[in-house]
Amino acid sequence: MTRRPYIVGNWKMHGTRAMLSEARAIDRAAQRHMKVEVALAPPFTLIHPIHREAEQISVGAQDCHQAEGGAFTGDISATMVADAGAKFVILGHSERRQGHAETDALVRAKAEAALTAGLRIIMCCGENIATRESGSAVAFVRKQLEASLPAPDDALTDVAERITIAYEPIWAIGTGTAATADDIGEMHAEIRRLLIELYGEEQGGEARIIYGGSVKPENAAEIFAVPDVGGALVGGASLTADSFMGIALAAGEPSDL
Ligand code: PGA
Repeated sequence: MTRRPYIVGNWKMHGTRAMLSEARAIDRAAQRHMKVEVALAPPFTLIHPIHREAEQISVGAQDCHQAEGGAFTGDISATMVADAGAKFVILGHSERRQGHAETDALVRAKAEAALTAGLRIIMCCGENIATRESGSAVAFVRKQLEASLPAPDDALTDVAERITIAYEPIWAIGTGTAATADDIGEMHAEIRRLLIELYGEEQGGEARIIYGGSVKPENAAEIFAVPDVGGALVGGASLTADSFMGIALAAGEPSDL
């Protein structure tokens, strides 16, 4: 990994204010592991309280609406999450694509809105088990990303800083079984090729590609050793400072384990 590893916690629909102490513990630990960039995406309700206290970690949202504002009961815009202190937003997570029928086109519209609002994005992609078993996972993910990522545009600068891809095979999320190093390596290499095709060698070659799906302290070092794994998007294991920072430590200083 050439850039600082990016370790992002996705708290999903977990966390009331009682969890602020855990966020504090993660922030304190992150101050001692500066070789790693640590970030948390809590539920919307905790973005501002965590942002207000955090000294090291950045805070992000797990979704945003594609419009800037309007009559959209229950939705929240990119501008609003940025105003609450979010620096990034996770988009196209499989739980949104499946549970909220988000299409590639909608995910792309959200990505454009988020970038316009000044947020960085973490664009998720990943195949289900049937696609993996049919042998077409790489082709599927390529197509999904091509249709979900913002089209190259003169106004889209700093792609390497502002766009991160998270490869998250659906069958590995929350199951306890991560993808194998070979599968991750093959997929990340294809995603890298696509990023370079879309955004050029300089930007597409530098943008981070992170892996998600049952990352834990026990398997993190093996996953981070795979070429072109620039970090991790972590669900279940990000809910306690102990396990989350165990993963961050494996990314920053494998020899410390
Ligand atoms: P998991 O979730 O780490 O609990 O598998 C990852 C994710 O959905 O981002």
